Amino acid sequence: MADNPHNAALLSLLGQAREQARFFGELGAESIALDKAAPSPEAVTMPVKDDAPRRPSVPPAREEFMFSARAVQSPKPYVSKSTGPSKDLFKLAAPQPSVAQAREALEDIWRDIGDCTRCGLCEGRTQVVNTHGNRNARLMFIGEAPGADEDAQGKPFVGRAGQLLTKMIEAMGMKREDVIIGNVNRCRPPGNRQPTLEEAAICRPFLFREIAAIKPEVIVVMGNTALRNLLEVREGISRVRGQFRDFRGIKVMPTFHPAYLLRDPSKKRETWEDLKKVIEYLESTPAKSKS
Ligand code: URA
Repeated sequence: MADNPHNAALLSLLGQAREQARFFGELGAESIALDKAAPSPEAVTMPVKDDAPRRPSVPPAREEFMFSARAVQSPKPYVSKSTGPSKDLFKLAAPQPSVAQAREALEDIWRDIGDCTRCGLCEGRTQVVNTHGNRNARLMFIGEAPGADEDAQGKPFVGRAGQLLTKMIEAMGMKREDVIIGNVNRCRPPGNRQPTLEEAAICRPFLFREIAAIKPEVIVVMGNTALRNLLEVREGISRVRGQFRDFRGIKVMPTFHPAYLLRDPSKKRETWEDLKKVIEYLESTPAKSKS
C-alpha cells in the first residue's frame, strides 16, 4: 500500500493525526471543541501588509520607551568582572510606559544588538538568537535562553523543547508561523545554565523593545526566567501560572516552560488549562489594529 505515493502520503497524514491526538490526550485537551475554541489563523494574525509607514526608523517615542536600553545601546567589549549581581537589577527596567506609543522596526533593534559583547555569554555562543516569527502576531511566547540547537540554527525554540512548543501552538489551533517567539537572553549560557540576574538585565531591554515593536495582545511567559524578567513577581511559576498579568498594557499568561514539561509531562494538563485561557481571550477580543 505504501508503494503508491498517494497511499504513502495518506499514511503519513494518518500518522501525524494519531500523534496529534495522542498529544491532545496528554494535554487533557480532548474535552475542547477545537474548531470552536481555537482561533483561526486569520483571527490571530493581523493582515500582512507593508508596515514601513508605521515603523519609521527614528521613532519619536523610542527614547522614552528605550530608557532601559540606553545603558546598553552601544556594544562594548565584555570585560570579565568579579562583582556580584546587583540586587536592584529591576530598576534598570524602569520606567514602564505602555507600548502603544513605541514605533521601532525590529531591524533597528537587531542592528543595535549586532554581534553583541555586552555580557559574558558572548564568549560561549555561536550566534545571537533574536526573536523570530510573525511580526504581526497577536500572540508571543517568551522563554529563557537558547540551547544548543538554537545556538546552532540561530532561531529560538527549534530543539526538543521547541518541538513541544510547536505542538502546544498547534493544539491551540494555530501554526507556528502565526505567532512570534523570543527569549530573555539571546546567547546560549554555558551548559544551558540559567542566565544570571545580571545577564538577563543586560539583555531584556532588547526584548522589551521587540515587544513594543510587535505589540502582541497576549504574551505567554514560559518558566521562571521569563516570568521574573517581565513581571515584578517574587513567587515562582507554579504559584502564578494560569492568572493573567499585565506588562505595559499587554496581557501576560505565565505557564510552565516546555523543557520542564519534557521532564514532568504530568504538568501538561495545567499548561493546557493556561493556554485555553489565552485562546478564549483571543477569541473573545477583536484583533487590535497595530497602526
Ligand atoms: N529554551 C528556551 O528557553 N529557549 C529556547 O530558545 C530553547 C529552549
